[in-house]
Amino acid sequence: MVNGVRLANDAHGSASVRRSVSYLLNERAIFKRENLRLAEQARILFDLEYPVLRRLIGRRPGTLLDAGCGNGAYLARLARRFPHLAMVGIDRHPRLLAAARLHCPRATFLRCEITDRAQLTEVVAKQPPQVVLLRFVIQHMSADERALAFETLHRVLPARTKLIIIEPDPDTFATTPPSPAIQYLAARVSLITEARGADRRVVHHLPHALRAFSNLQQIARDTGSRALGWRNAARVHMPILATRITRDSSDFEATQLSAARRWIRQASKLRGSRLASSLIFTICERT
Ligand SMILES: C[S@@+](CC[C@H](N)C(=O)[O-])C[C@H]1O[C@@H](n2cnc3c(N)ncnc32)[C@H](O)[C@@H]1O
Repeated sequence: MVNGVRLANDAHGSASVRRSVSYLLNERAIFKRENLRLAEQARILFDLEYPVLRRLIGRRPGTLLDAGCGNGAYLARLARRFPHLAMVGIDRHPRLLAAARLHCPRATFLRCEITDRAQLTEVVAKQPPQVVLLRFVIQHMSADERALAFETLHRVLPARTKLIIIEPDPDTFATTPPSPAIQYLAARVSLITEARGADRRVVHHLPHALRAFSNLQQIARDTGSRALGWRNAARVHMPILATRITRDSSDFEATQLSAARRWIRQASKLRGSRLASSLIFTICERT
């Protein structure tokens, strides 16, 4: 491991690929916490994202492939709102896939590494998708993995497949009333993610990164500020800040974490308090 990044051979065993270590979940307690947080995050954010998804996905029957589906909590909500679509979820994490099978029995879940052309070809050949979703996945990849993932998708997806990438824009993260502690922690999380070889601000590089793949053209970008409210901030954002920070935390960071928790407790009693941040939908089409 070099600077929080693993070196590995790519799918063809040729060049070395720098792999991020941002989302390994290899400790039992971290897995358990993240499994609960993903479900809570899906519960809170799905209704905010649904109007954009409804516009993008439409009513035609077909298959939606959720690439990096995690524990399937989000896919289960998609399955309920898009009953005309068959659902396939792929992920590389076996325990998350086991949880996904419980969350959404009507979907098919397969273990698959998105950057592996042979594995993804097999998945797509079994059930060719019309829509592919990559939600909160690319931010956990290194630049090498990201390029390999796009390269793989651009080679493997059938023509006219719609690819929807959803990522947050951490630069838009803001609280009312202002909380310097939350602001500080959010910036630290971006730095910690970077030190683990990934990129929480990836949404800013996407248009440029996609330009390299002539068959995978960006056709739209949808931005919206989603105000979450203090209660949701406590359930979705604080666990991200707490999980990623406690591992490498200094006394200063522990103090900021306490201040942020205090803000959330106080904000619950204040009218008009809120936490807002933007999610960016990047939409591509396989030509
Ligand atoms: C933050 S979770 C998001 C889960 C889900 N998309 C959601 O929105 O709740 C990121 C997921 O991407 C998966 N993942 C990351 N890189 C992957 C890769 N190269 N191949 C397959 N899965 C990957 C992780 O295992 C994890 O389940």
